[in-house]
Amino acid sequence: MEIFHISAECYPVAKVGGLADVVGALPKYQNNAGHQVRVVMPCYNTKFKNENSFECVHWGHVKLGDFNFAFNVLKEVTDKLGFELYLIEIPDLFDRKDVYGYEDDIERFLTFQIATLDWINGRNELPDVINCHDHHTGLIPFMMTYCYKYYKFKNTPSMITIHNGLYQGQFGFDKLYYLPEFDLAHVRVLDWNNCINSLAVAIKCAWAVTTVSPNYLNEINISAKGLESLFNMVRYKSRGILNGIDVEVWDPAHDKMLEKNYSTADYKAGKQANKVKLCTLFNLDPTKPLFSFIGRLLEEKGGDLLPGSSAQALQENYQQINILILGSGDTEIENQLNSLRQNFEGNYNTFIGYNEELAHLIYAASDFILMPSRVEPCGLNQMYALRYGTIPIVRRTGGLKDTVIDIGDNGNGICHNQSTISDVCYSIQRAVQLYEDKEQLDSVRLKGMNTDHSWERVCQEYIETYQLIINNKNEN
Ligand code: GLC
Repeated sequence: MEIFHISAECYPVAKVGGLADVVGALPKYQNNAGHQVRVVMPCYNTKFKNENSFECVHWGHVKLGDFNFAFNVLKEVTDKLGFELYLIEIPDLFDRKDVYGYEDDIERFLTFQIATLDWINGRNELPDVINCHDHHTGLIPFMMTYCYKYYKFKNTPSMITIHNGLYQGQFGFDKLYYLPEFDLAHVRVLDWNNCINSLAVAIKCAWAVTTVSPNYLNEINISAKGLESLFNMVRYKSRGILNGIDVEVWDPAHDKMLEKNYSTADYKAGKQANKVKLCTLFNLDPTKPLFSFIGRLLEEKGGDLLPGSSAQALQENYQQINILILGSGDTEIENQLNSLRQNFEGNYNTFIGYNEELAHLIYAASDFILMPSRVEPCGLNQMYALRYGTIPIVRRTGGLKDTVIDIGDNGNGICHNQSTISDVCYSIQRAVQLYEDKEQLDSVRLKGMNTDHSWERVCQEYIETYQLIINNKNEN
C-alpha cells in the first residue's frame, strides 16, 4: 500500500516534541512491513537539512489569497531514514530556525498544505491513503473532498492522527479566501464556534480519526477544549492506537549516547556507570536515588508543579535524593526551577534547553522519571524510561494510564491521580521506599525492561485502520 504521512515534525529532521518521534519511526516500520511510505514536511532551516543531500523532484507556485509563493519539493537522496522523505521548500515562510511560534503560522502551514496537495495531485498515481498528523495538516482532508482543483482525491481515504487536541489551529473567516476554490454550499464544514478550526475540520472530513492512545480517546469525549461533542459524533470512525517507540534508536544495549551500554543481564552496573557520569556533569550524588524530568516545561505537562514538588521532596528527604530537570518552555517555570539550584546545591540541578543526547544519558542514569502531566495524549518518555530500566512516576492520565500500572497492583511504576504538589511528593516518597527495597526495585525495573513497546507490533493497527477505510471506499 502507498502511504503518505504529512506532518510538521519528523525526527531527526525537526523535533519539538513526541510528534516528531512518532513520524520518524512509524513510517520506517510500515516500510519494513512491505508498504511504500513517504513522509512530507516543511523545509525548515535545520541541522539535518544543512548536513544532508537532497534533489529537487518538483517545483511550482502556490496561491494563498493574494499572495504567491514559489515552492520546491526536495527528496532526501540516501533514504537513510528508512522511508522516503520529502521537504516542501517555501523559502519565504519556512527558511527559519524554529518549527512554530511565528505570527504567520496560519499562513505558513496553510501554504504548506496547499503546496503538498498540488504536488501529490500532479503525480501520475494517487496514494492509497493520506495520514495527516495534528492540526497543522488538518485542512488537507477538507481540501481533498471539496476543493475543485483536487477533485482527483475525492475517493482517496484520509486519516487524521491526533497527537495533541489542545492545539487546534483556529483562525477567522476573514482568511477564508486563502483556501483554494470550493463550492460555498459546504462552507459550514469549516465552522466550529464561528471560527475555522483546522483540527475540527479534520475530524469532520477525515475518513478515520485516531488518537495516540485508547485512554486519551475516552478522555477527549469528555474534555477537549470545546471539541468534545464533535468527538462524540465521530466515535464511529475513531480509534485509539497506542504509540510505539523506535527500539533501534532507544536501545540501552547499543545507544551511542550513553557512557556505558547495558542489557537486562548487566543493567545494575550499566545504569550505575551512567549515573556516575551524569552526576559528575551536574554536581549530583551518585549514591542517592536520582529523579529526573525530561520535556517541555508547560502547565500541560505539569511543569508548574515541578519547582514546588522538587523543593518539598528535597526537604522532606533531608536531601537524600537527587533531582535533575531537562527542558524548556514557560519562562516563569524555568526561572523558578533555576532559582532552586542555590538552596539544594549538590542534589538538584537543571538544564534549560533541548538536548537529545543528554536526554538519552538521563534515561539510562536515572532511577525514576517524573511525568506529572495534566494532559498526556500518549507520552513516550515513560516508554523510553521503562526500556532503560528507569521507573516512571506518572499522573494517571491519557496514555500514561494505558502504559504505567502502579506497583501496588503488581505493575511497572508509581501512579497518582491529582495534579497537585502533595500527590507528586507522595509518589516520590513511595519511590524512595521502593529504592530501599532492592529486591522489589529490581523486579520492577526488569519488568519495565522486558515490556515490548515496539512499533513492529503497533504498526499493524495503523495498517488495519487504513485497510478498513480503503474497503469502505470500495463498497461505496
Ligand atoms: C504529543 C503528545 C504526547 C504524545 C506525542 C506523540 O507530543 O503531547 O503525549 O506522546 O504527541 O504522539
